[in-house]
Amino acid sequence: MSEEPTPGKGKGKEREKAARKLHRAIDGLSDEQVTQLLDLNPALAHELGSGHGDGDPGAAAEALKRLNLQEIMTGLASSGKNVKDMGAYKFWATQPVPKFGEGDSPDEQVAEGPIKVQTVEEIPKEPAPLLDGFEWSTIDLLDDAQLTEVWELLNGHYVEDDEAMFRFNYSTSILKWAMMPPGWKKEWYRGVRASQSRKLVGFIAAIPVELRVRDKVLHASEVNFLCIHKKLRSKRLAPVLIKEITRLCNLEGVFQAIYTGGIVLPKPVSTCRYFHRAINWPKLYEVGFSPLPSNSKPQFQIRKYAVPDRTSLRGLREMQKKDVGAVQDLLTRYLAKFDMAAEFNKQEVEHWLLHNKKDALEDQVVWTYVVEDDHKKITDFISFYCLESSVIGPSTHSNVKAAYLFYYATEIGLAKPVDREALKARLNALVSDSLVYCKQYKFDVYNALSLMDNALFLEEQKFGPGDGQLHYYLFNYRANPIAGGIDKRNRLDPEALSGIGKTQI
Ligand SMILES: CC(C)(COP(=O)(O)OP(=O)(O)OC[C@H]1O[C@@H](n2cnc3c(N)ncnc32)[C@H](O)[C@@H]1OP(=O)(O)O)[C@@H](O)C(=O)NCCC(=O)NCCS
Repeated sequence: MSEEPTPGKGKGKEREKAARKLHRAIDGLSDEQVTQLLDLNPALAHELGSGHGDGDPGAAAEALKRLNLQEIMTGLASSGKNVKDMGAYKFWATQPVPKFGEGDSPDEQVAEGPIKVQTVEEIPKEPAPLLDGFEWSTIDLLDDAQLTEVWELLNGHYVEDDEAMFRFNYSTSILKWAMMPPGWKKEWYRGVRASQSRKLVGFIAAIPVELRVRDKVLHASEVNFLCIHKKLRSKRLAPVLIKEITRLCNLEGVFQAIYTGGIVLPKPVSTCRYFHRAINWPKLYEVGFSPLPSNSKPQFQIRKYAVPDRTSLRGLREMQKKDVGAVQDLLTRYLAKFDMAAEFNKQEVEHWLLHNKKDALEDQVVWTYVVEDDHKKITDFISFYCLESSVIGPSTHSNVKAAYLFYYATEIGLAKPVDREALKARLNALVSDSLVYCKQYKFDVYNALSLMDNALFLEEQKFGPGDGQLHYYLFNYRANPIAGGIDKRNRLDPEALSGIGKTQI
C-alpha cells in the first residue's frame, strides 16, 4: 500500500539516538524490571511470547536482549496511531503470511514458496456479507464520476503522517496511472458504500504484476489504496476489505500479492527508509516539513539546496515513444540485479514511463529522461513521478508538490565486474540532472527510498533521512529477508545495497 511514506520531517536522528539509549538501557535491566516493562507493553510481551507477566521473566529478558536495534526501531516507528496494530494481530494471525521470529536469523534460511496452496474452485463465488447498512460496490474507474468518488475518499481519508500535518493527495490522473496499467482487471477495484446515502466509505484495489522473487516469477497482484472513511475506523472493516480483494484475486487464479505500508505487520520481507531532498526549502520550512537546524540560518539552507539551471549529461533528453524497446531492454537487465523486482513487458514500460503528450502539463504524472550516446544507443534512463500531499493544518500553503524517484538504469551498472566507483559517479550525475528537471517543473521536494542502488547517491545529492519507513510484504509467499538498503541502526548501508528493485506508487 503505497505508502505511506509518512512525509518525513527529519526526526530520524533523534529516533536513532533514542533507540541506541533504549538498547543500552535494556542490557542493564533486572528481571523484575523486565517483567514490569513487559507488563506495561503487552504488544511487546506478546511478540516475545511471554504473555502478560505469566511467562518466564528470565526467558523474556533474554528474548528482549536478543532484539536487535532494527526491531526496537521498528517498535518505535509504530508509535501513535499504530499502537493498536502492534497488539495481537488477530486478523493477520489467520492469514497465510510469515510470523515474527520465523527465519529471522541469518543461518536459518527458509525454503521459499507459497504458504497455502488452493485452487480457483475452492474460492467462494460471493463476497462475505457486510454489516447492515453497507454494501459492496465494484468501482468503474472508466466512469469519471466513480473515479472522482475514489479521489474524494482518498483525499479526505488516506495516509497521513504521524502528526496529521500532511495527507497524500493522489490526483485523478495519478490514480488512473497507478491503477490501470496493461492487464488491469475491472473487478479489482472494490468499494464499500453506505446503502442509504450511496456514499463510498471504503476502498481497496489490486493490479496484476509479474513479480520475481529471487529465481521464481510469481503471477501476483499488487494491492494498494486500502482506505476506510475516518468515521468507520477501528470496526474491523480493513480485514473484510483485505479478504475480499484476496477472494477477487484468487478467482482470477492469482494467489500471491505484494503490498507495502508504513506500519509493522507480520512480517516484512524488507524495510526501506524514506529520504527527502529539499528543492523549495523556504516552503518546506513554512509548512513544517523541514526543520531549521540549530546551527544554520535560512539563507544557508537555501544555498545548500540550490539546484543548477542546466543538466550536465551529454545526450540526455526526454524519453520518446521510439525509446520504449531500448528502455525496456535496459530496465529488464538492470532489475535482474535485485532480489525482488517486477518483470515489465514493452506495453508496461510504455505505460509506466512514457508521458502521454496529449495530457496537459498539470495532468503529467511521470517524467522520464534517457541518455542517447553518439551511436544512438540508449545507455541510461531515469524517471520520477509526481505525488502531492495536502497540508492539513492552517498554513499559507495548501499542498506540497513532491517528486518520487521511480525507476532508473544505466549500462555502467551492468558491466561485469561492475566498477562501483564508475556506477556511483554515473548515478550521481543522473540523479543530479533529474533534480534540475524537478526544479524546472516546480517540485518542492524530491523523495526516494533506500532501495535499488540509491545508497550510492542519496547523501551526495543531499537527500536527508526522513522519519518514514516503508515495509514490503508478500501475501501467501514465504521468502528470506531482502536487504532494504539500511543497516541495523536504520542508516544507509552503501556496503550492502538493497535487493529491492520494486517500487510501489
Ligand atoms: C488502514 C485502514 C484501512 C485500517 O482501518 P482501521 O479501521 O484502522 O482498522 P480495522 O479495525 O478495520 O482493522 C484492523 C486490522 O487491520 C490491520 N491493518 C491496519 N492497517 C493495515 C494496513 N495498512 N495493511 C494491512 N492491514 C492493516 C490491523 O493490523 C488489524 O489487524 P490485526 O488485528 O491482525 O492487527 C485505515 O486506518 C485507513 O484508511 N487509514 C488511512 C489510509 C491508510 O493508511 N491505508 C493503508 C495504506 S498502507
